Amino acid sequence: MHNKQANDMNLSINTSSLITTYKEVSPEIAAKLTGGDKTTYVRTLFDKISNRYDLIRTIVFLGHTSLWYRQSLSDLDLKVGDKVLDVGCGTGESTRYLINRYPGINVEGMDISSGMLNEARRLSPKVNYFEGDVSAIPCPNATYDFVLTTFTFRNFPERNVAIAEMLRVLRPGGRLLILDHFYPQNPLWRAVYTFWMRRVVPQIVKPFMEDVTPYRYLAESIINGLTISGFKTLLELNQAVVLQTNTYTGGAAGRVIAVCQQEDIE
Ligand SMILES: C[S@@+](CC[C@H](N)C(=O)[O-])C[C@H]1O[C@@H](n2cnc3c(N)ncnc32)[C@H](O)[C@@H]1O
Repeated sequence: MHNKQANDMNLSINTSSLITTYKEVSPEIAAKLTGGDKTTYVRTLFDKISNRYDLIRTIVFLGHTSLWYRQSLSDLDLKVGDKVLDVGCGTGESTRYLINRYPGINVEGMDISSGMLNEARRLSPKVNYFEGDVSAIPCPNATYDFVLTTFTFRNFPERNVAIAEMLRVLRPGGRLLILDHFYPQNPLWRAVYTFWMRRVVPQIVKPFMEDVTPYRYLAESIINGLTISGFKTLLELNQAVVLQTNTYTGGAAGRVIAVCQQEDIE
């Protein structure tokens, strides 16, 4: 049977929360939160922005998100009947991309925000979207052939638990794909990117939202997040074998594909 990694590695998270909404914490502090406080922060923030999420994201990243999906999700060799889980599926844009690209696969989406899930269900009513936390995915071991998570990882309350859980629900030899915004490594591009995210984005979001806090949090979560090489190391420390890493748009986005180490499988 596939490993029960989160248990075996004695990983767990503190699920209690001292806050009730994202409004109680500054974006700078929120980017460094862990455990139940992070979960509450992120869930309430995404509930709030869910109905404008797709539009504002297109503006903030100048339409690059569709390009990044194409670059990272079009060469996966998924087969008819493959069971796929989209963790933190949000409004379902990544889920829909996969369904169109690989007809016949069986994709489900899971998210912690009911607001984001409502949007996903409205846009694609035939897909099975369910509520769940990456820290305790409500599925048996070895359920899926492929697990992906796109632009989510910085929001997870405990990185090691999230990785262990996503590997746990994969069948032996199944692949895990992470696509995310990473902090670019080139110093010049990093400076431009930081200026764009911290100074320009709050201004361009203002006409669409009274409170631009969610987009200040987006900037801080990327700037305080991992580089792609740091992320690769994190996966390896969590018993995954990294098969491939790719960066896009000068490292502003990147993908990592990994499999679970075979010796962990009984
Ligand atoms: C930036 S959105 C990305 C959505 C989607 N994957 C996409 O590519 O558009 C991040 C999503 O991760 C979800 N999320 C954050 N923390 C989560 C957790 N602990 N468990 C499950 N989903 C989570 C959020 O609710 C949100 O919908």
